Amino acid sequence: MSHHYVSFDNVRYRYPSGSEALKGVSFLITHGEKVGLVGSNGAGKSTLILHVNGLLYPTSGTVNIGDVPVEKSTLSIIRQKVGVVFQNADDQLFMPTVEEDVAFGPINMGLPMSEVKRRVEDSLVAVGAEHLRKSTTYRLSGGQKRSVAIATVLAMGPEVLVLDEPSSNLDPHARRLLIRQMEGFSHTCIVASHDLDMIWELCPRTIVMKNGVVAADGPTKLLLNDIPLMESCGLEQPNLAKIEMLMKC
Ligand SMILES: Nc1ncnc2c1ncn2[C@@H]1O[C@H](COP(=O)(O)OP(=O)(O)O)[C@@H](O)[C@H]1O
Ligand SMILES: [Mg+2]
Repeated sequence: MSHHYVSFDNVRYRYPSGSEALKGVSFLITHGEKVGLVGSNGAGKSTLILHVNGLLYPTSGTVNIGDVPVEKSTLSIIRQKVGVVFQNADDQLFMPTVEEDVAFGPINMGLPMSEVKRRVEDSLVAVGAEHLRKSTTYRLSGGQKRSVAIATVLAMGPEVLVLDEPSSNLDPHARRLLIRQMEGFSHTCIVASHDLDMIWELCPRTIVMKNGVVAADGPTKLLLNDIPLMESCGLEQPNLAKIEMLMKC
């Protein structure tokens, strides 16, 4: 296994409509790291995430997961390694009930039914949603949908978990639950978020994006305390008093 688990090498991406969203992005993430991805609206966070599991391919440059390049020919391997939780849980949930949604991925992977059942059970427990197992998916609250969306991804057994704005629209309790779920995930985790308090708490390392480039990459506490950097990237410093308070929720 490559030491550098998620690697972007000079990745550029131009949307067909013409706007260049990534302008030469490079970084290396080691297996097991939890990395925050921050930057103001339009900085390129979601576009970057879509490259990690091959929903978009670079216009130039390369993306690798372990030793496997993200290409059309490797897509089925990449999708087993990388699980992406999208910003809008409705994009991810499409079966009538929660358990059918969570079972969908493992069934598609061709796993035996005993293993599918075990994975459904384990991933619903991991997100605190076992009581929703028989529920009708579209009737769930926003926070419940997010938890179930995370369970659908965990059930696939990913080695890399990528979440796009996971705490948006969550109440403090659901947000706390989400942070605990992610703390419990032992593999590589990339979290794109405007919730800098959550990044502060969860991710020892942060990549700061600005206008399609990496403006900074380093220890979260160092970067988020760098007032000129934060201001030049249109970000506010996290509120440490609030973090202390929310950690008790
Ligand atoms: N589907 C799309 N078509 C054309 N341009 C897009 C599309 N999605 C995003 N962009 C543009 O790419 C840039 C980066 O957007 P995005 O990756 O969504 O940033 P972020 O997630 O950091 O807010 C923005 O300028 C945005 O307008
Ligand atoms: Mg985004």
